[in-house]
Amino acid sequence: AVNLSGRNFLKLLDFTPEEIRYLLDLSADLKAKKRVHEPHRYLEGKNIVLLFEKTSTRTRCSFEVAGHDLGMNVTYLDPGSSQMGKKESIEDTARVLGRMFDGIEYRGYAQSIVQTLADYAGVPVWNGLTTEFHPTQMLADVLTMREEFGNDLSGRKLTFMGDAGNNVGNSLMVVCAKLGIDFCACGPEKQMPAPELVEQCRAIAAENGSTITLTEDVDEGARNASVIYTDIWVSMGEPDSLWAERIKLLKPYQVTGDVMAKAAPDAIFMHCLPSFHDRHTTIGEDIYEKFGLAEMEVTNEVFEGPRSRVFDEAENRMHTIKAVMYATLK
Ligand code: CP
Ligand code: NVA
Repeated sequence: AVNLSGRNFLKLLDFTPEEIRYLLDLSADLKAKKRVHEPHRYLEGKNIVLLFEKTSTRTRCSFEVAGHDLGMNVTYLDPGSSQMGKKESIEDTARVLGRMFDGIEYRGYAQSIVQTLADYAGVPVWNGLTTEFHPTQMLADVLTMREEFGNDLSGRKLTFMGDAGNNVGNSLMVVCAKLGIDFCACGPEKQMPAPELVEQCRAIAAENGSTITLTEDVDEGARNASVIYTDIWVSMGEPDSLWAERIKLLKPYQVTGDVMAKAAPDAIFMHCLPSFHDRHTTIGEDIYEKFGLAEMEVTNEVFEGPRSRVFDEAENRMHTIKAVMYATLK
């Protein structure tokens, strides 16, 4: 039987397919309990801290609500309000927080930071997004796919369109390899996942009966895909000055109605959010105006259309993060 008690949750490469499936089953179970208002305060009286060096809506709120549902007390440290990285090292911060809290969530920059926190904290550490990986997002995404297509996703194809080497693209490649889902990264060569990670995932995929494909061709990427997935073209921590270059590189991979029509007939559209699909946001200036584009990585038609599952994914962040905390702290 799977037992994740005391484990960190830093990246899915550290978990077996069986462990990932266990977390997904637990998530579905906790979601069902929440739906009928069945209390599940299994971690009553424990204390957790959420350490954010980047902004967040879904991840922060998921950890807070899930923590409260489990009966825990939650402390939030916003970007800039702790001593970490300024007056205090990561190692010292980890040892201090580990003396006070039962679990630590970290969102920020290098994967090596969350690894160092885990090495020094002495309590479970959960990765709420780094530059390289976004593992809690993956559980929510696969739960959403299970709800759509059933629990057996083997033989399905997921295609990530656009900035495929970002944290979400990297993590999707890993989770697909682990669960025997065919993964296709569709974008310009410059934005592909790192070759070493691709090789590592190809070996894992081979064990689980699936494939990893990289292509610059949108028709090939969309063909037969059960899921078309995309993410923002410039991620947190990258300079806004990259927008011009990224728009030029990634515009051909914008998810349009035409792209969805080329995918499998039952294909769904997924996005981790936040999304630049409509003129609703600024980065200090109006990028839509500046670059003469009305829509970015996905068109409003697809985002708001009948195949879009983006808000199911967002809700599932909470149920899956709850499962991760329960499994590692119980
Ligand atoms: N998908 C996601 O992680 O969203 P937030 O940045 O709002 O947490
Ligand atoms: N790739 C995006 C994901 C946000 C949830 C970023 O890192 O900003």
